[in-house]
Parts: sequence; C-alpha cells; structure tokens
Amino acid sequence: MKKNLGPNPYIYPQPVLIVATYDEDNNPDAMNVAYGGIVNSNRLQINIGVRHKTSDNIKAKQAFTVGIADEAHIVEADYVGIISGHNEPDKLAKAGLHTIKSEFVDAPLIKELPITMECKVEEIHQYDQTLRIVAEIVNVSVDEAVLTADGKIDTAKLHALCYDSSNRAYLALGKKVGTAFSDGKKLAE
Ligand SMILES: Cc1cc2nc3c(=O)[nH]c(=O)nc-3n(C[C@H](O)[C@H](O)[C@H](O)COP(=O)(O)O)c2cc1C
Repeated sequence: MKKNLGPNPYIYPQPVLIVATYDEDNNPDAMNVAYGGIVNSNRLQINIGVRHKTSDNIKAKQAFTVGIADEAHIVEADYVGIISGHNEPDKLAKAGLHTIKSEFVDAPLIKELPITMECKVEEIHQYDQTLRIVAEIVNVSVDEAVLTADGKIDTAKLHALCYDSSNRAYLALGKKVGTAFSDGKKLAE
C-alpha cells in the first residue's frame, strides 16, 4: 500500500552543504544548505531564504564557496544552520571554524571541511522568499587526506553527511553498493 504524504521535499539523500561568504567588510559567514545540488559539470545551485545574511553577502560579492560537511563536524555544521550571522557576528569563531580566502573567488574556504567548491554567481532568481542561485564552479579544493592514490575522492575517508529531512537527521554516507554506468548493462544485453 502507498500512502500520500502531500507536498514534501523528500529527495534522498539531501546534501549537507556549508555555504561560506564574506560580507562587504570581508567578515566571513557560513550557513547550512540542504536545498542545493548540481546543475551540470561546472555549475551548481543553492536555494536560500532572502533574509539570511548569506543572501546579502552573495548579492554583494557575487561569490561563495560550498564545503561538504563531514561526520567529524556535525555540531559545527548544525550550529551554522541554526544561528544567523545577523545575530552573531562571531558565528564562525564560535563554531570553531577557521577560514582562508579563496584564490579564485571573493569568498572564504573553511579549513576544516575536506572538499570545497569555489563558485562565481551567474544567476539569481527569487521565488516567494527563496533565492535560487546558480553559480559556476571555478575550482574544487580538496584535502589530500580524502584522495585516492590516483587523485579521486575516496568516499570511505570522506565520511560526508547527508540530510534526512523527514526525520531531521544527519546520516553518514554509506558503503559502496554498485558501479555507475555499468550495473545496468546486464539488462541491456
Ligand atoms: C540541516 C539544515 C539544512 C538547512 N537548509 C537550508 C536551505 O537549504 N536553505 C535555507 O535558506 N536555509 C537552510 N537552513 C537554515 C540556514 O542554514 C540558517 O537559517 C542559517 O542560520 C542562516 O545563516 P546566515 O543568516 O548567517 O546566512 C538549513 C539549516 C539546517 C540545520
């Protein structure tokens, strides 16, 4: 039996993206974003409320970074998702997170996060009280500790977080269970 749950954002998994920005005085801020994803191989989008400090910062700088939250930083990732930089100017310091300026865009990288995409804004569209922001990924900065010997992302070392919006839970990315662009071939024979 199927049950209708009405309109809900139940895509599984959702990411736990940490979007980091500078304000006009170059103070860093960061927020937790589940409503984001890939547009194509060099573009991503994030969907964020107009009232967030991050939204003001992105409009001012036309740039941001997207860090992948990992299991080692659940508390920090959740904190930046419940406290606004509008109310806590030392938000990142309170979270125990440290930043360095991106070499490629006018936005900070969070040192503690293992993978960061550095992004330049291409489009901002407003839907009700949400901004859909499409941006070009101009670089990806990765900790060597989460790379395989041949330079690929080692998900077994990454321990990336996923968001379960139905249960308001964080999950750790699980084990490999298949091979993409390959497992389906057995049905094509
Ligand atoms: C798990 C989680 C996911 C979230 N996803 C989003 C999101 O996709 N879009 C959004 O606008 N806010 C989202 N938030 C809320 C913001 O991260 C939060 O309001 C934050 O304090 C905004 O910070 P700022 O005002 O410093 O930019 C999420 C929060 C949590 C805890």
